[in-house]
Amino acid sequence: MRAGRTVVLTEAEHRMAPQRIDIHPDVRKAETPPACLYTDPAILDREKELVFARSWQYARADLPAEGPGLAPFTLLEGLIGEPLVLTRDETGTERVLSNVCTHRGALVARAASAAQGLVCGYHGRRFALDGAFRSAPEFQCAEHFPTHRDDLRALPLERLGPLRFTALLPRVSLAELLGDLAERLSAVRIERLVHDASRDRAFEFPANWALYVDNYLEGLHIPYVHPTLAARIEQKCYAIELFRHASLQVARARPGAPSFAGPGGVAAYYAWVFPNLMLNFYPWGLSLNLVEPRGVDRTRVRFETWVADAAAFEREGGQDLDRIEFEDEAVVADVQRGMRSRLFERGRYAPEREAALHHFHRMLAAALA
Ligand code: FES
Ligand SMILES: [Fe+2]
Repeated sequence: MRAGRTVVLTEAEHRMAPQRIDIHPDVRKAETPPACLYTDPAILDREKELVFARSWQYARADLPAEGPGLAPFTLLEGLIGEPLVLTRDETGTERVLSNVCTHRGALVARAASAAQGLVCGYHGRRFALDGAFRSAPEFQCAEHFPTHRDDLRALPLERLGPLRFTALLPRVSLAELLGDLAERLSAVRIERLVHDASRDRAFEFPANWALYVDNYLEGLHIPYVHPTLAARIEQKCYAIELFRHASLQVARARPGAPSFAGPGGVAAYYAWVFPNLMLNFYPWGLSLNLVEPRGVDRTRVRFETWVADAAAFEREGGQDLDRIEFEDEAVVADVQRGMRSRLFERGRYAPEREAALHHFHRMLAAALA
C-alpha cells in the first residue's frame, strides 16, 4: 500500500544539499538523486573540482591537416576554462601544452597556424612546439634562468581513433576509462571517421548538465518525446551494457531501416563516457556530443559530425538529429523547472530501462563523496 503524504519543503530545505548523495546499489530499490543535485550551485562547484577537473575531456582544436603547427583551445569553457594549445612538431608528435606564457601569464597562441614555434605577443618570449623555452628578450642578467619552470607545461594526450583527449588531473588512464567499451566499438571502425567541420554546431539551453546526461541515458522517453525516432528503432531490443566508467545503449533497426552490416541489425550504438561525452554511432558515421556545464541551470552541447560512409551519410545522415535535439532540450528544460518544485524530492528508476541512468548517478555520487 502506498503511504499517502504530502511534504511541502521550505525553500531552504529544498536547496539544502545532503552531506552525501546516496544511491542504492540495487536499481530496483534505489531512489533517483535529490533535486539539489541539479539546482545547488555549491554542488556544481564540487563537480567542477571532483568530476570535471579530474576527467578526460575531448580535445577539439583545428590543427593544420599535416606538418608542424599549433591550434589554441579552451578546456571546458564556462566551467574550467583552461587555456591550452595543441601542437604538432616536425616529427609529427602532437602535444597538449598550457597556452599561458611562463613570463607573466599572457595567452601565447591566439589562432591556429602552421607556425614552427610559439611566440608570446606580450613581451616576445619564444617556445618550441614541444613547449621548451627558447628565448626571452632582456633576460640576460636574470639569475638561475631559464629553468624547466620557464617551459610551457604539458598535459597528457591520448586518442580513440582520430579523437583526441586530454586531462588536467585524471583519476584513471584513458584506456582504463574506456575499458571494454573500446573493444565493444570495434564494429563501428572509428579509424575511418573524417570530421566534417561544416556541420559543427552548439546549442545552449536552461537546464543542469546532468539532466541532459540523464535524458541521454534512458530510451524510455523515446516513444513519448521522439515519435519519428521511435518509428525507426525496435524498442524491445534496446539493449543496455554497463562498463566501469561508461555505458552503451544498442538500438536494433526496424525491418527495412538503415543498420550496420553484420548480424543483429544494429541501428545505432549510443556510447556514453563519464562524465560528459556521448558518441552516437550510426551506419553513416558518428555524431559526437560534448556536454559543457555553463552554470547550475545552463548547459551547452557541442555537436560534431564524423563521416565514415559518405554515400550513407547523404542518404540517412542526420536527417532529423536537430529535431531530436530540440525535443530533448525542451524536455530537460521542463525537468529543470520540476527540480525546483518544493513538492518534488526524489523519484525511482524503471529497473529494466533506466539501468544506465542509475549507473551514472552511482558514479557521480561516488565522485562527489
Ligand atoms: S607574458 Fe609572455 S613574454 Fe611576457
Ligand atoms: Fe531523447
